[in-house]
Amino acid sequence: MESKLLDEINEKTAIVDLVSEFVSLQKRGKNYMGLCPFHQEKTPSFSVSPEKNIAKCMSCGEGGNPINFYRKIKNISLNEAASELAARAGITIEEVKVNKNPHEAHYKLMNEVASFYQFNLKNSEKGQEALKYLYNRQMTDELISHFKLGYAPSHGNTLYQVLRDKGFAVSDMISLGVVKQSDDGSYYDLFSERVIFPITNPTGNVVGLSGRTLNPKEQVKYINSPETVIFKKGLLLYHLYEALSEIRKTKQVVLYEGFFDVISSYAAGVQNGVATMGTALTKDQAKLIRNVSTSVIVAYDGDSAGLKAIDQAIPVLEKEQLKVEVLTIPEKMDPDDFVKAYGPEKFEALFGEYTTDAYQFRYDYYKLSKNLQNANDMKEFRKQVMQMIQSSDPSIKAFYIQKLSTDLNIPVESFVEKRRTEIQVEPQLPKMEKPRIDNKNTKAERYVIFAMLRSKKTTESLLNKIKPTDFADHVSATIRIQIEHYYEDHTELDLNDFLDTLTGDQRTFMENVMLKDMFWTKNLPISEEEIETYVKLIKEANLRRRLEYIKDKLAHEEQITEALIKERDQIIVLLKHTK
Ligand code: UTP
Ligand code: MN
Repeated sequence: MESKLLDEINEKTAIVDLVSEFVSLQKRGKNYMGLCPFHQEKTPSFSVSPEKNIAKCMSCGEGGNPINFYRKIKNISLNEAASELAARAGITIEEVKVNKNPHEAHYKLMNEVASFYQFNLKNSEKGQEALKYLYNRQMTDELISHFKLGYAPSHGNTLYQVLRDKGFAVSDMISLGVVKQSDDGSYYDLFSERVIFPITNPTGNVVGLSGRTLNPKEQVKYINSPETVIFKKGLLLYHLYEALSEIRKTKQVVLYEGFFDVISSYAAGVQNGVATMGTALTKDQAKLIRNVSTSVIVAYDGDSAGLKAIDQAIPVLEKEQLKVEVLTIPEKMDPDDFVKAYGPEKFEALFGEYTTDAYQFRYDYYKLSKNLQNANDMKEFRKQVMQMIQSSDPSIKAFYIQKLSTDLNIPVESFVEKRRTEIQVEPQLPKMEKPRIDNKNTKAERYVIFAMLRSKKTTESLLNKIKPTDFADHVSATIRIQIEHYYEDHTELDLNDFLDTLTGDQRTFMENVMLKDMFWTKNLPISEEEIETYVKLIKEANLRRRLEYIKDKLAHEEQITEALIKERDQIIVLLKHTK
């Protein structure tokens, strides 16, 4: 939008009137003062100057001209803010129309639907029953109006008729999921005999609805609008728009699982609550939270499904750089149950007493179901905790390793030790052998063993050059160790004597593979240069396997340690030099 146009919109919008819609103002000399809507305060520092036509907080600095103020307070784009204010000021310009949201007509229809259901709750006979249900659940008229709760009348097409009379297109009613067509071609309303929760998008337009049954025997507790062009559950959070001003003040979001949790919490004075509507938290939802705040408290149900969902939500939130805390509701209740059982004061107090940081929560959660005397549980617990701290800062790592060591009754060193051996030894375990051992390498490994079998002197010269762990073939590696041991108290190798020192696999391999090899049967010569070449081949192949293994680990983010990354880079350099 052109700056001349923006100037005109600002000029024609009286800042005092605009701010008054959001803040109660008192006249002080030439200016007006009120409580700042952008931060929490007890004495007014939000100053509005009719003369300059701007608003500014003396304390936090937020504010601006009419368009800027409106944009910030409604959390909308500059264009949206300018368009809305232009419309109010009676400025009709082509550009303003062009920039109109393409979903305007959809929003209008959905807002109409929500109003219709709201009206029905208070003004119909059946609505009285729903009202009674809500009052029973400790809802007040104030809450009902804040949350715009409604009631959908029994089976029929009342909504359809109302919308049609207002001139809405049937195709829109259907595509937005509020009306359906039956086989005989007639139209009927999707929601029937349910309490209606309108769901808004982050800019405050109703985009979908959820309906709760009043009948405890009914199978389906909530029916939701289907996914539509404007209603995508994974891209929305219930009550986010409505909670914005409180989120701005508290600089925090409380994340719940359900509608009633948000409402009861709101009633209890915690008004920065939003909810995922019963589905796992998505990356997009975490981004929505990050857009309006830097900190989040996860307050899911206290039952086992709730705890599991918290464990899954934490990494999603942390990925967006949010500070995460967890409120675990005692006695397996959900927040709504808790408010009902213990009252609003106790609920607010929970936030002090029962919030933990995300690490503490996960540690306790992993420990909860385990018997730490049981080897499998110990292993699993250790794995979960190590995974949790894998990319954390050193003090957190040290803290939880210490805790783990106390709980498992194992010295701290064994964790550090354990990790080192894990990294070094795993690639040589038999199960890691599958990375193709090509023929060239197989031959190299066998010929090196032949050379060792033939001469103690060759063996001694090779001991430092080639380690058992360099072998791709596990059995060959152990034979290499046996040869070393054998020469410790023999000057020459007697084949039958040596075979007697071998165990099952090794002996079978020797007899069925090695001793049938042409090289052995024909007693072919082998030069020192040849041995050198084989050793180089084996070492290089081992490095490649190791590199693959590390890359795989890093790709699956199993154990990203600096040591691993450093080793990877060293191997790459080494491999370059062997070429
Ligand atoms: P809950 O079963 O915890 O619902 O599901 P609730 O909010 O506590 O409801 P009450 O107290 O029993 O009335 C959490 C959320 O999962 C979604 C809803 O958004 C609900 O608020 N849900 C649940 C559905 O979409 N469909 C269902 O059948 C059930
Ligand atoms: Mn619940």
